[in-house]
Amino acid sequence: MEQAYEKCLWGGRFRQDEDQLMQRFNSGGFRTEWLVGPDIQGSLAHVAMQVKCGMLTPEEGEILTEGLKSILHQFQTGQLVFGPEYEDVHTFVELNLIRQVGEVGKKLHTARSRNDQCNVDMKLYVKEQTAWVIAQIDRFRETLQHTAEANPWIMPGYTHLQRAQVVTMKHHLLAYYEMLGRDKKRLQSALEIMDESPLGCGALAGTTHEIDRAYTAELLGFAGGPCKNFLDGVSDRDFVLETMADFSILMMHLSRLAEELVLWTSAEFGFVTLDDRYTTGSSIMPQKKNSDGAELVRGRTGRVYGDLLTLLCAMKGLPLAYNKDMQEDKSAFYDALKVVSGSLQMMERMIATMKVKPEVLRQAVRKGFLNATEVADYLVKKGVPFRDAHGIVGKIVIYCEDVGKAIEDLSLAELKQFSDCFGEDIYPYIDYDNILQKGIKKEML
Ligand code: ARG
Repeated sequence: MEQAYEKCLWGGRFRQDEDQLMQRFNSGGFRTEWLVGPDIQGSLAHVAMQVKCGMLTPEEGEILTEGLKSILHQFQTGQLVFGPEYEDVHTFVELNLIRQVGEVGKKLHTARSRNDQCNVDMKLYVKEQTAWVIAQIDRFRETLQHTAEANPWIMPGYTHLQRAQVVTMKHHLLAYYEMLGRDKKRLQSALEIMDESPLGCGALAGTTHEIDRAYTAELLGFAGGPCKNFLDGVSDRDFVLETMADFSILMMHLSRLAEELVLWTSAEFGFVTLDDRYTTGSSIMPQKKNSDGAELVRGRTGRVYGDLLTLLCAMKGLPLAYNKDMQEDKSAFYDALKVVSGSLQMMERMIATMKVKPEVLRQAVRKGFLNATEVADYLVKKGVPFRDAHGIVGKIVIYCEDVGKAIEDLSLAELKQFSDCFGEDIYPYIDYDNILQKGIKKEML
């Protein structure tokens, strides 16, 4: 009869083999090749600790260490394939180790469970990938800043998607620079909170072996040392949830910018053109150039929210400690990560290569009564209470609409029909370029 360890890590107490359906349901569907590296990293630290604590001789430790490194190499070079016959990544690594180094390989799992092991793997991966996302945020922020500086042009600012007051393209883009700065801080804080090692928590109740959890925590780079509570250490998925929550907010920001790009590139706005490389055409309408890059970022944002919700729902009713439901953290996180990382890169490229049209922006400013608030401010400076000034300018706007003029195109005689306070100095006061020189508006330049 085949030994249990030849197929899986647990067969001893079973009289019957797993049904194929059970096998596929358990292992199939979602493969976690990306955890082979972290799993081996965790095992290498575990072996080092086993040697330090006298559970393995140095020679045995050497054999396991070399064996694990060799499996990693074989996996990376395609000689070993993590196929669907392995229940999970831990099974893949351990069974191959036993096959390759023989009996001593069976000692690897002393004083460890897959429950602490899988959480160590996942934390190592989440930490590494979050650092990579932060680096992509940094890169995108640099591009935003650079593009903002290159586009100091005045443009309409909106509320309710109605033209409101004059702003600059620079200030508009730098709004996203700020949002992404907070996204970065959120992720850095998540990294700090998650930085404790679950290794050694065992299945749920630690181990009777004298292991050194502080040592493995240190070897694996967990600055906060080992987790304090065994039950929590194996069943905590907060770090995955928190990272995905931060990803969700980040995607919300990217999606808002994506929506602006879609609007700005439409003929109705015409503020911006995207580089051909990040747009696509239509199979029937020859003239079309669609902002697909931006639309995909907007569309995929929902996927990240869905991934977060998937794991929140999976976790919400689970009793302590480990439950298999928790394995669902893998597909959720991996999907969210791919969307976030792809979207950051796409947005960075689109912003870096887009062409802004300053003349169109200026025209849009002129048409929108964007200096109406400044006309009211002018009257306030002449002693009119703001609420009255607001009413007077409202009437002026109605008049302008009726005669088809902008406020700055009205003659002084026309303006004086609404208030005696108007003088020649109104014109420079409400000139769009001058407006931005006044008060704290200078900060937008
Ligand atoms: N593949 C599992 C996971 O990622 C590993 C833990 C399995 N533990 C168990 N008792 N079946 O969650």
